[in-house]
Formats: sequence, structure tokens, C-alpha cells
Amino acid sequence: MVPRVLQVILLLHWLVQLIAAQGNTCCESYCYNDDTERKQVKHFATKTVYELVRAPDTDRQHIVPNCVPVKFWLLSRHGTRLPGKSDIIELPKQLKLLQDAIMDNYFTRRTPPDNGRMCDEDLEMLRNWHWDPNITEQYDAHLTEQGWEDLKYLGLRAKEKYWQVFGTGYQPSKFMFRHTKTQRTEASFKAFAEGLFGREESQRVSPSPATDPDLLLKPYDYCPDFEENKKRDERDENSEVNKFLRSALFTGTVWDISQRLGFRHNLSVAQVEALWDACRYEQAWRISRPSPFCTAFTEDQVRVLEYKEDLSYYYRTSYGYAHSQDLACHAMSDMLRHLTSRDDPSVVAYFTHDSEIQLMLVALGAKRDSTPIRADNFPFMRNRQYTTSDIPFTANIAAVKYQYVSDVAVGKARSYNGHFVSYISL
Ligand SMILES: *[C@@H]1O[C@H](CO)[C@@H](O)[C@H](O)[C@H]1NC(C)=O
Ligand SMILES: *[C@@H]1O[C@H](CO)[C@@H](O)[C@H](O)[C@H]1NC(C)=O
Repeated sequence: MVPRVLQVILLLHWLVQLIAAQGNTCCESYCYNDDTERKQVKHFATKTVYELVRAPDTDRQHIVPNCVPVKFWLLSRHGTRLPGKSDIIELPKQLKLLQDAIMDNYFTRRTPPDNGRMCDEDLEMLRNWHWDPNITEQYDAHLTEQGWEDLKYLGLRAKEKYWQVFGTGYQPSKFMFRHTKTQRTEASFKAFAEGLFGREESQRVSPSPATDPDLLLKPYDYCPDFEENKKRDERDENSEVNKFLRSALFTGTVWDISQRLGFRHNLSVAQVEALWDACRYEQAWRISRPSPFCTAFTEDQVRVLEYKEDLSYYYRTSYGYAHSQDLACHAMSDMLRHLTSRDDPSVVAYFTHDSEIQLMLVALGAKRDSTPIRADNFPFMRNRQYTTSDIPFTANIAAVKYQYVSDVAVGKARSYNGHFVSYISL
């Protein structure tokens, strides 16, 4: 027995030393406020901040040797927006309850986990959180100030990179703009025009009216099969998302998140989603400020939540739905028609929604994995091509046509008079 007692004493001694060495920080696993990298913010699915994932300013993809850009065609998602009406009504209430419960867990009930508790800075930030009272129902899904900046700078970068096509100033025959019938896409168009032409001149720019039905920018709204398929997650308990929600990985993640927040029971998926939505929205609205509810998640947990979103979109608006590419045929033929025509307009820009961007990517064959994502292959798909974090606010696809010009300066006489189309994200 003596050796065992000795072992226990040694172990205790070691533990005391460990605790002493770590001082107040004992047993915290992750501290969002101390994390200077915050890699997880690039994995916020369709609510990712564009500025954090766009190509860097040093990107040179737009420079094609011996070629000048002659046509520009853009399909852009609207910028950062507010939540929809039901979220604006429900989220603040739900979040307040969760905030109070977490504070209670830590300071009254004293139920934080022995290992992996939240750090004091994170708790303090969470304690000080309140819903911005300016965000009310009447602004449902409206473009935010950051959303305006997103599109304005998209316009500025487009003009700078493709100055040969954009020229200077607004000539009505040369430009064509169109947006869907929503405040957020209309405001996105206006912000983009402001980036191109400046505030004053952009007032003169008028977009082409949306058609009804709008098969170009919202074809999925007029397709019963698409609607039917979209409801699959409600109907079929064996859809990939539903299987994933029941998996040990997902339920274990919910348990980890709940425990870390001091709960002794499992939060519901809806509660976890409310926390994550608040985290993502507030990060997107004020990109340089840490977002209080993001303290509730570690990077690994975010990757699991991201995967759940990816699964749900993949089988609705991407490769997992058989008619995705057919639905994008109007946009595709519009693009080809404009790029092959020698006539004006030379700049075409459309403002739409994430679904249309996803469908168009499928039609282009972009971001396709050889293995579809499924409920059971998360560990193998970590470096996958398809992820909705690549469809952030302001996600866009630009197709640029280049005209070959022989390089006289270096004496190369090439007679090839070809064209080249480059797909890029600005
Ligand atoms: C609400 O809007 C007003 C006026 O624009 C502004 O002064 C105030 O700071 C806003 N409140 C919050 C919490 O952002
Ligand atoms: C929470 O969910 C996990 C994973 O399913 C389970 O192991 C655990 O027992 C649940 N906890 C409670 C308190 O129900």
C-alpha cells in the first residue's frame, strides 16, 4: 500500500505545482480576447466578413501578359446585412436569457467546468453585451454601414484593376446594372456605383428594372422542384444534415459548448445557433471589434458548426442538388452573350443573393470536390474545395474578357487575335 500512497502524494504535489504555475489562468482552454489570430472568423459560413477572406491587395491575377481587359461581367451577393424580421424579434430575447444564464452559471451557481473554463476577459465582455436598440423590425435584412463599405470598395477595386474597361466617369451606354427587388441588393448596387463614380455622379446612374419573374437573378424562386428539395431537411430525417445533427461529433460539440458556458445540461441546437448567429452578425457589422458571443466557441467547435451549414447548403444550392447548374443557365447565357458581343455595355454588374452565387459556381464547375460532403466524412473533408465560408457577404464572381494584343515592344509578332476569359473574385 505504501507505494500507492506515495504515488498519490506525488500526484497531488505535481498537481499543486501545476496549479500554482498557472496561477489564475488555471484550467482555461481558450481565451478569445487573448487570441490575436482568431482563425475561426474565416469560417463563419455565409455570414463571414468579406474583408477577412477576399484576395489581398497584392493579388496580381488580373494582370494577363499581352492582354487588355475589354469586358467585365459581375455577379455579386449583397453586402453585410441585418437579420431578417423574425430574428430581429426573437434573437435579442433569446440572447438576453442566455447571457443571464451564463453569468449565473459562473458567478452564482458556480458551475463552470473544472477544465476549459472561460477566461475573465471573455466573461467580462459577455457581461457587457447588449442588443443594439437601433436594430428594429423596420430594418429587417437591410444593408448595414459595413455592407455599404463592402460594395463601395468592391467598386473601387474593380475600377482600379480594370481601368481599361471602366474608363473614367459614367456613360449610360457603357454600363448596365441590375439588382433584385430588395433593399439590401438595391443599396448594394448604389454603394458599388458610388465606388465607381463618386457620390455625386453615382446619383445619375439608373439600374435596369428587375423582371417579373426574375429568372436571371432569382431563378430558384420560380422552380417548384427547388422549393420541394429545399424542404427535404424538414421531411427526411435521413438527410445529411439531420444525420450530422445526430452524430457523436455534433452532439459532443454541443455538449462541449454547453459545459464550457457552465451549463450542466445540453443547450438546444437553436440556442447554440442563436449564440453563433449573434457572434457572426456582430463581427460582420463591426469588423474591427471583438464580437462578445464569439467567446462561446473555440476554433474546432466553429469548424463543426460550419460543416453543418455546408451540408445544408450543399444539398440545396450546390453540387448536392441535381438541378443547380440548370437553374444558373439564365445567368450563364447572359454572361456568354455579353462577353461575346462587341457592343456596349462593356460593364455589366448584377446584385443578388448567396443562392444565385452558389448555383453559378456549380454551372462553372468551381469549388467541386471529388467526394461529396456527407454526415460521416467530416474528418476527411477538412481541406475541401466547397465551403460556404467562401460565399461571405459580398461574395462575387467576375468574368473578364481579355483581348490579345501583340507585344510589339519586345518584337513578338503574333497574329493570334484570340480572347481569354478569366474568372476572378474581387
Ligand atoms: C443608434 O443610432 C444613433 C443615431 O444614429 C446613434 O447615435 C447611436 O449611437 C446608436 N446606438 C447604438 C447602440 O449603436
Ligand atoms: C449531452 O449530450 C452528450 C452527447 O450526446 C451526452 O453524452 C451527455 O450525456 C448529455 N448531457 C446531459 C446532461 O444530458
